Amino acid sequence: MLEKFIVTIDGTSSTGKSTIAKRIARKLSYTYIDSGAMYRALTFFCLEQKIISKSFFKKDVLLKKLNNIKIDFKKNPKNNILEINLNGAFVEDKIRTIMVSDFVSILAKLDDVRTFMVKIQHSLGEKKGVVMDGRDIGTVVFPNAEYKFFLEASPKLRAERRFNELKKNNNKVSYEDVYNNIISRDTHDINRLNSPLKMASDSIFIDTESLDLDEVENIILNHITS
Ligand code: DC
Repeated sequence: MLEKFIVTIDGTSSTGKSTIAKRIARKLSYTYIDSGAMYRALTFFCLEQKIISKSFFKKDVLLKKLNNIKIDFKKNPKNNILEINLNGAFVEDKIRTIMVSDFVSILAKLDDVRTFMVKIQHSLGEKKGVVMDGRDIGTVVFPNAEYKFFLEASPKLRAERRFNELKKNNNKVSYEDVYNNIISRDTHDINRLNSPLKMASDSIFIDTESLDLDEVENIILNHITS
């Protein structure tokens, strides 16, 4: 049987991690796991349940409910794609809003939330053959992963990419809001005490500023298959 690996792709917000991770998973016939979608799904849950808003955060309520919340990836019969599933419902089309992006960092810095997510991520990677993207995948979740990559690009380019993506999906948002959100999430991700965003010492750094998706994909595949 062909040996299967764990491939981790970390980096700042909107560096194209998920697009690239999806492509790599498809090429290798691996499972793609979007760990950011898990944090987004929990944030969506908190917004829906009125656990968090601009004026309050009922942290105790969240922590009490946390272990009864089911976050998983399931094949959506509508498109046959493995998608984020929150308590039995597919929420992929609800978690990419600027509202979720604005609140996600508050939850992502909580120790209990990170422990909860890492437990699920470990079970998803148990059988290997997984490409997982996020912020702490190569450092905390799978420090022994066989292949680790770290993607970077300037905030301006990342905001442009994200803005165009949101516009394509009919999200009414300004470029300035997207740019500010990216800067704010970078700051939270890099400075949080638990599992801050940083490059693993054995990770391969890829500056995607002047590379297109095919070029990034080829660099990664060359490392894995050579
Ligand atoms: O990858 P993304 O932008 O969809 O992730 C949403 C947020 O979740 C991001 O702002 C930081 C957080 N996150 C995290 O803390 N750890 C991860 N492994 C993945 C995402």
